[in-house]
Amino acid sequence: MKVEVSERLASRYLCLADFEGDARRRLPWSIFGFIEGGSEDGQSLRANRAAFEAVEFVPRALVNTSGRTPEAQTLGRRWDAPFGVSPMGAIGVAAFEADIALARAAASRNVPFILSSSSLVPMERVIEANPHTWFQAYLSRDRKDDLPYLDRIAGNGFETLVITVDVPVGGNREENVRRGYSSPLRPNARMVIDSLCHPRWLAGTFGRSVLSRGMPHFENMPAERFPMFSLSARRTQGRDNLDWSDLSRLRDAWKKRLVVKGLLAPQDAERAARCGLDGIIVSNHGGRQLDGATAPLTALPDMVRAAGAMPVLLDGGIRRGTDVLKALALGASHVFLGRPMLYATVAGGASGAARAMDILKTEIVRDMALLGVRHLGELDASIVRTRARNLTAP
Ligand SMILES: Cc1cc2nc3c(=O)[nH]c(=O)nc-3n(C[C@H](O)[C@H](O)[C@H](O)COP(=O)(O)O)c2cc1C
Repeated sequence: MKVEVSERLASRYLCLADFEGDARRRLPWSIFGFIEGGSEDGQSLRANRAAFEAVEFVPRALVNTSGRTPEAQTLGRRWDAPFGVSPMGAIGVAAFEADIALARAAASRNVPFILSSSSLVPMERVIEANPHTWFQAYLSRDRKDDLPYLDRIAGNGFETLVITVDVPVGGNREENVRRGYSSPLRPNARMVIDSLCHPRWLAGTFGRSVLSRGMPHFENMPAERFPMFSLSARRTQGRDNLDWSDLSRLRDAWKKRLVVKGLLAPQDAERAARCGLDGIIVSNHGGRQLDGATAPLTALPDMVRAAGAMPVLLDGGIRRGTDVLKALALGASHVFLGRPMLYATVAGGASGAARAMDILKTEIVRDMALLGVRHLGELDASIVRTRARNLTAP
């Protein structure tokens, strides 16, 4: 499971932001826009970053931090770092078998990878590449589909199921419409020209995918196998008929670890704990669903209080080791990154993703020394404060 990082890759990419510019150049305009964008006016997308920038550290001095470690114990396993990869659907359109590349990188760096049910690679191949992969699904609108689906997921050996609940309907992503991105992708003249202008993507991602396994399909949906490119197919995304009783049913049916992703309200955190969940991921879907939804980091302290003993995980807006440590100090037990890990995969496949993980881990280890922290369990809210507090008079 070893994934090597070449000297060239290591010297070219020094921070996570370095991958984004490369991905922007390599990808057709419509596909880059699909990854980068948020919904409507991008308020939540910007809030996710602003929330991290509003928190500052109060480091401790003269602490012996030699031998410090960023290891984390989360959901029954020891990981080499307190971050992982968020589930992202349809990413095979951006990089060749991106799910497998990310799964391999995560396995080699011993961090969790969450496979999206909207992925283009069958779950069977992904779990083979990384036996510790978590699986993310949506509860299906048609409840009768759930049980055979859960059997397939459990039968393949997935130990942790993540249910995303912030997509009762698709978010309003106008930028996708402007750029001609849809799911399934509907080929049109502009997309053809855009693709021809990105020959590396055309040959290395699209051509290679089609030549190796035929036209990509959504392989891991409960009911049907849907094409990624189609002039006529339409996906029904709505699942606005579901409620907490559906989650309780699922809790009864799924005997392994169950996590819910996409909560922001403390009332929902309490409810999740009562439902017997093993954890929650505080998330606004990377600013891609309800625009104006609060940033996960802003919501975090209240969520942690409401969750009691249940672990609280977080994603959205993490770009630096310092961001990871801020979230942990405010009570998260693990954090996840979406876009930066995908950009790194676009730039360098599994090695690119591994390089991104190495960068983040190195930043965390350095920052722990600068903060005066030997292990992550020492982090608490006393090591951070919000910038706004500086403005209040003593
Ligand atoms: C291209 C893309 C596809 C995504 N697909 C899914 C998905 O299938 N399921 C899901 O729960 N979240 C999905 N998300 C949201 C991510 O899991 C995650 O919440 C978000 O990307 C975190 O924010 P960040 O990108 O700022 O790290 C997707 C995000 C992106 C960028």
